Amino acid sequence: MQPVRVGIIGMGGFAGSHHNTIARLEERGVVKLACACDPNPVAFTSEQLSWRFAQRGVKVFDSYRSMLAECHGDLDYVAVPTPIGLHAEMHEAATSYGLPAYLEKPPTLDFQELERMIVADRRAKCSSLVGFNFIVEKSRLALKERLLSGEFGAIRGGTLAALWPRPSGYFARNGWSGRLIIDGKVILDSCFGNTMGHFVHNMLFWTGTGGLYQWAQIAAVRAELYRAHAIEGADTFFVEADLATGCTLRFALSLACAGASTSSETVICEKAILRYSVGGQIEVSWKDGRSERISSCPFDALEENHLEYVRYLRREIARPATTLEDSRPLVVLNDLAHISSGRIHPIPADIVSSLRDEKEQKDYLSVTGMAKIVDNFLSRGIWPSYAGWRRENGEVVTPSDLPRLHNVASAMASAR
Ligand SMILES: NC(=O)c1ccc[n+]([C@@H]2O[C@H](COP(=O)([O-])OP(=O)(O)OC[C@H]3O[C@@H](n4cnc5c(N)ncnc54)[C@H](O)[C@@H]3O)[C@@H](O)[C@H]2O)c1
Repeated sequence: MQPVRVGIIGMGGFAGSHHNTIARLEERGVVKLACACDPNPVAFTSEQLSWRFAQRGVKVFDSYRSMLAECHGDLDYVAVPTPIGLHAEMHEAATSYGLPAYLEKPPTLDFQELERMIVADRRAKCSSLVGFNFIVEKSRLALKERLLSGEFGAIRGGTLAALWPRPSGYFARNGWSGRLIIDGKVILDSCFGNTMGHFVHNMLFWTGTGGLYQWAQIAAVRAELYRAHAIEGADTFFVEADLATGCTLRFALSLACAGASTSSETVICEKAILRYSVGGQIEVSWKDGRSERISSCPFDALEENHLEYVRYLRREIARPATTLEDSRPLVVLNDLAHISSGRIHPIPADIVSSLRDEKEQKDYLSVTGMAKIVDNFLSRGIWPSYAGWRRENGEVVTPSDLPRLHNVASAMASAR
């Protein structure tokens, strides 16, 4: 079988991980990297040597437009692991040649831009993939099949707790981290829509009851957004979403915390509670007292996602793991969370402390009592505003409020 031909836009940041993965898959004869680009390819001379570009015959460009103009006939797909604000224009350029894209997540966090991307994608020979890491996990797909079969009874609700400590330098690693708007364009980079957006997307996947590859539809949202770090956007999210099916999901996510990174997806059903931690335990606790542990296999997210996408492009499977349309619920939920909160409140300074990790030589901000605030919200619906973090609650908003997004994001950015 001929290798599937790919071009990668970008060489630094996460694009470097795509290059490592594609180089390994090329050794196995699965793919062939035809071309790559970066605005300053010379800055990646040593990486190009280690990726053996010359021996592999990879053509290098300093512009993605010239790369696509010259190489589009030699490509089956284009990987786009670049800043969020560039995804739409790069996807537009690829699809103008009929090429589908492996778009890094999130495709965009602007609901209007997403709709334009969905339309543009119809020009491609195959659907583009959005690289949410964990939909292809075999243990996840098997558990969702059981959920859909009715084994656990109807879904009553769900929660996501995700705490990923990030040092202050994390937000300075590029020009778009933690930004709401850049040059008038809505970006909304945050732990909710981007860094831990995988887990939010997973929750919407569990609760999309219309079929295996279905995501829940959002009916109404309330949210409180906060920040401890000196950034434009929020680093801490408390979000409640009513789904079209009538059940409610609660999300608590923060980058302003200490200790190990944790994430726990919980789905509450009539007969059992499912707890799924990526890379950790998967457990079904039955209401009758039985408990079931499911083992998850070691999982290389990028490799599995490229492999699965190649299978789709070879018509061995019917669809990519996540399409642009499938990303709608996450984008809508993220946008409504910003609209509902209206403002991003600073977390009260007296409970934010600075911690120095001497081993890592990095500084973290940590919020005293975060675990309790998260538990109170997820288990009992008690908002941080009741603990005095802010005076007013978030308003209840619905998809009909989406047109307010640009004004709200601009007001949030200028309020800082
Ligand atoms: N799936 C995951 O687990 C995961 C992990 C990290 C990042 N990401 C995603 O990957 C994407 C990139 O994130 P990042 O932190 O690496 O961003 P980044 O700002 O470091 O940019 C990555 C690369 O994009 C390229 N680039 C930038 N501007 C370009 C241009 N005009 N033309 C061509 N190339 C250009 C550069 O080579 C740059 O090094 C984001 O969507 C992010 O959310 C995904």
